[in-house]
Amino acid sequence: MTKNNFSRRRFIETTGAALGGSLIAGPVMSKASAKSKKRKSSGKMKVAVVGMGVRGVGMYGRTLVRNYGDHLDLVGICDTNPGRLRYADSYVGAGCPTFSNLDEMLEKTNPDRLVVTTWDWEHHNCIIAGLQHGVDVVCEKPLTIDEDKCQQIIDADKKYDNDIYVTFNYRYPPHRAKVKELLMDGAIGDIRTVDFHWNISHAHQMRYMQRWHGESQRGGTLWVHKNTHHFDMINWFLDSDPVEVYAHDALEIFGSNGPFRSTNCRNCPHADNCDYYWDINANDHLRQMYADNEHYDGYIRDNCVFRHNIDSHDKHSALIKYANNAFLNYSLTSDTDHSGYWIAFNGTKGRLEGREGGWSGPDGHQEWIYTPLGREPRKITVDFTEGGHWGGDPIMLDKLFKDPDMADPLHQSAGTRDGVMSVLAGIAARKSAASGKPVRIADLTSLKPHAKRPDELI
Ligand SMILES: NC(=O)c1ccc[n+]([C@@H]2O[C@H](COP(=O)([O-])OP(=O)(O)OC[C@H]3O[C@@H](n4cnc5c(N)ncnc54)[C@H](O)[C@@H]3O)[C@@H](O)[C@H]2O)c1
Repeated sequence: MTKNNFSRRRFIETTGAALGGSLIAGPVMSKASAKSKKRKSSGKMKVAVVGMGVRGVGMYGRTLVRNYGDHLDLVGICDTNPGRLRYADSYVGAGCPTFSNLDEMLEKTNPDRLVVTTWDWEHHNCIIAGLQHGVDVVCEKPLTIDEDKCQQIIDADKKYDNDIYVTFNYRYPPHRAKVKELLMDGAIGDIRTVDFHWNISHAHQMRYMQRWHGESQRGGTLWVHKNTHHFDMINWFLDSDPVEVYAHDALEIFGSNGPFRSTNCRNCPHADNCDYYWDINANDHLRQMYADNEHYDGYIRDNCVFRHNIDSHDKHSALIKYANNAFLNYSLTSDTDHSGYWIAFNGTKGRLEGREGGWSGPDGHQEWIYTPLGREPRKITVDFTEGGHWGGDPIMLDKLFKDPDMADPLHQSAGTRDGVMSVLAGIAARKSAASGKPVRIADLTSLKPHAKRPDELI
């Protein structure tokens, strides 16, 4: 048993006892985990990864080889950029075959699971190819970027037998699991409203705008690329679907707003005056992965943040009505000094609120303020655990690759419907901001909102 696995189980047992043990029911078997029992190979899981960028080689490739070798074999890696693929081969160190074509990899390696870490606008093609080859698919967020691609994924999921898992690692940090547990236990009654406000720091936003994330045709704007995490958190916390979205957004800092522009940072005559100058060559890993291979496909990692084709926004605000009648007041403000968020749940029996000030947080723990109706506020403290994304990544990887049948009492495992609903909230916001009108989720795909989220694709 790993440290993180142990910490999480102990955490759930401890907090469950404090809440009367109401959540320590037996394992909740999702549709996904039920179907995953149809693994083609016995013994170790056979895993292939498509998309050998920073996420594919780090969070999956090398981590799977180093930390999950007792449970799986990495049987193939794939990338359309031959130089990046060569670098990935040496960095990941699996010694497995490499492929530039996904179908060929699926045919030759016959994996149990395909991990999709390609560009967002390619996810649907890779997911559908995986399902067609009879493979379970683990897809990075966002599931996809527009409603037509959502529908293609829904149709393929219904048609083929295998499963899609969406890697919503934001559900897994122990301090968020604690909130889910309190809400599921009815600590604040029925939730009436949620206030949720997120800030992205200067450095983080700059990395988005330097890449494809700044272009709506590729990343779906941050309404989808980034906010899929946030909308999924709320869908999951509320256990309900969004119904209608009204939103505003703006692009005030990047793109054509800039005072000057050039091709990319490395060649820029404005480097000394630009607040967004970044030297990719100072980072060997990123240079070898991206800069050294851009002649193959023209993928520039240090693009100018003031290029004219940036149309992703840097200021977002939305009001979302949920099927269970809860209202969400949401904002995402980019390029601030602050990185983190503030969230508050107002319920019929009390209030729960918290603030996260960055990636690590104060003194290695997270505080929540819990105020039962008519009583004094009290602090609930949860320790951070080791690992990326506030300790959530290793817990999620354990569930996906080490023990897929691990009990899931907090419903942290996410599938197609979760992926689609989180993306649709962002797509609806994007459309609402563009049209000035509210947008109904039910008008976007065949999925209809439910007051309590079902497992099936209905
Ligand atoms: N959950 C999280 O917190 C988190 C964090 C970072 C990234 N991500 C997601 O991971 C994914 C990858 O992110 P990244 O930063 O590594 O991106 P990236 O652009 O650096 O890398 C993507 C790679 O995919 C390859 N590729 C694209 N389409 C392909 C195809 N059809 N077949 C084969 N290869 C293809 C590209 O050549 C590139 O090497 C994105 O969807 C992103 O949203 C999630």
